[in-house]
Amino acid sequence: MIGLHAFAALLPLAFSVCATGALAADAANGATMAKRWCAACHLVAADQRQGNPDVPSFASIGKRPNFNSEKLALFLLDPHPKMPNMGLSRQEAADLAAYIATQGK
Ligand code: HEC
Repeated sequence: MIGLHAFAALLPLAFSVCATGALAADAANGATMAKRWCAACHLVAADQRQGNPDVPSFASIGKRPNFNSEKLALFLLDPHPKMPNMGLSRQEAADLAAYIATQGK
């Protein structure tokens, strides 16, 4: 019975990939992922109250003069120290990078 569950779990994913178009980075999707997966350690949004003070906020990362979303997306495919391995897809990494870019504005 695993097959049916796996199919049901993948369905919304397949749908959202089609809906957003392959490889067009979607900052709104990045925001959703950041709040779900990164907010435990990083300050991911201006309205977030608590983060870990030792971890750079997404706004500070996005503001760096050498910020580059493509490089950041590549960086995210390889988990950084202390970050759990989330097995991000290229699309997810690009969406997160696009979102972090908006936080630096
Ligand atoms: C368990 C805590 C934790 C989680 C969850 C986490 N991070 Fe991090 N992150 C850190 C720490 C700690 C650092 C600083 C690492 C260092 O300086 O070596 C860091 C650094 C970074 C950096 C690089 C900052 C720099 O100085 O270049 C980026 C980008 C980043 N995280 C993005 C993310 C994204 C995107 C997510 C969610 C998918 C995430 N992190 C989830 C703890 C976490």
